[in-house]
Amino acid sequence: MDEIVVENLSKTFAGGVTAVDGLSFSVARGEVFGLLGPNGAGKSTTVRILATLTQPTGGRASVASHDVAADPARVRSRLGYIAQASGVDRWATGHENLTLQAQLQRVSPALVGARVRALLDRVSLSEAAPRLVNTYSGGMKRRLDIAMGLVHEPSVLFLDEPTTGLDPETRRALWDDLARLRAERGLTVLLTTHYLEEADQLCDRIAIVDRGRVVATGTPSDLKTGIGGDIVTLELAAAQPYAAATLRALDGVTEVNGEGAKLTLRVADGAHMLPVAISALAQSGISVRTASASRPSLDDVYLHHTGHRFDSTDVAHRAAR
Ligand SMILES: Nc1ncnc2c1ncn2[C@@H]1O[C@H](COP(=O)(O)OP(=O)(O)O)[C@@H](O)[C@H]1O
Ligand SMILES: [Mg+2]
Repeated sequence: MDEIVVENLSKTFAGGVTAVDGLSFSVARGEVFGLLGPNGAGKSTTVRILATLTQPTGGRASVASHDVAADPARVRSRLGYIAQASGVDRWATGHENLTLQAQLQRVSPALVGARVRALLDRVSLSEAAPRLVNTYSGGMKRRLDIAMGLVHEPSVLFLDEPTTGLDPETRRALWDDLARLRAERGLTVLLTTHYLEEADQLCDRIAIVDRGRVVATGTPSDLKTGIGGDIVTLELAAAQPYAAATLRALDGVTEVNGEGAKLTLRVADGAHMLPVAISALAQSGISVRTASASRPSLDDVYLHHTGHRFDSTDVAHRAAR
């Protein structure tokens, strides 16, 4: 049973910018699903449409079997939405923030106290609850945000860039928290991220989003094996215009990408191709500084489907195209 269904969704803003351009995916109940894409790909706009905060200009979407356009109130009652910027009051305590949120969400007054205590426990903030949020670390604030989104016991949780701005250690700790939350309750989670590693570690399935469209969907491991073979990465002593053509001519090399001195090859068998590639380049008088073979990463999957590297794609870059 699909908890979230998105069909051919689009959104063109009044100024003419098309943020979402015929996007489709679906998320099963209990899944952690990630929208992975660089800045400007249309992730936040998609989530905001699903959370009924903005209207689509085309296509349709439903959450927990309710259409977002036809039945926004029902959709809202089933979802928790955690925006990228925190909505907590820094000058109130964690306990006060959660209690107010429970009241705003019309949790029955008889249940508020117990609900707030249980949530504080679930996000490991019971001890810090009487302190002002202003004294919390970035990770603690984020955990409070998540508790705020869960106060009315939604069946679907939307997290827009949950770990952006957190240091790597705090990010990992939050992944553990999210995995635990989800195991406890069978919550359906839709998150957006521009961290390849986050999508890889945390999500059951992901949709890779590029310029408002889904270019590939699957489990991280299916996506990686789906592009086939291994990756060989070569760093040349100096940029060499004929290197790519030399490598492309070799048996077993299916793709050569890269600019300047760094080249990425998609090959059938990395361990076999590594010495072959180095000696073919040597015969053409090209020397190699470093060489390695690896399994494909999500970055390679992204490159394969979009023709550009994940990190090289952002709004500034697109504006220049
Ligand atoms: N309210 C808005 N009005 C006009 N353009 C917008 C608005 N919100 C977002 N955009 C544009 O839509 C595109 C996608 O933005 P967004 O959905 O925020 O992407 P992401 O979350 O993947 O970084 C960007 O080019 C952004 O500038
Ligand atoms: Mg965003």
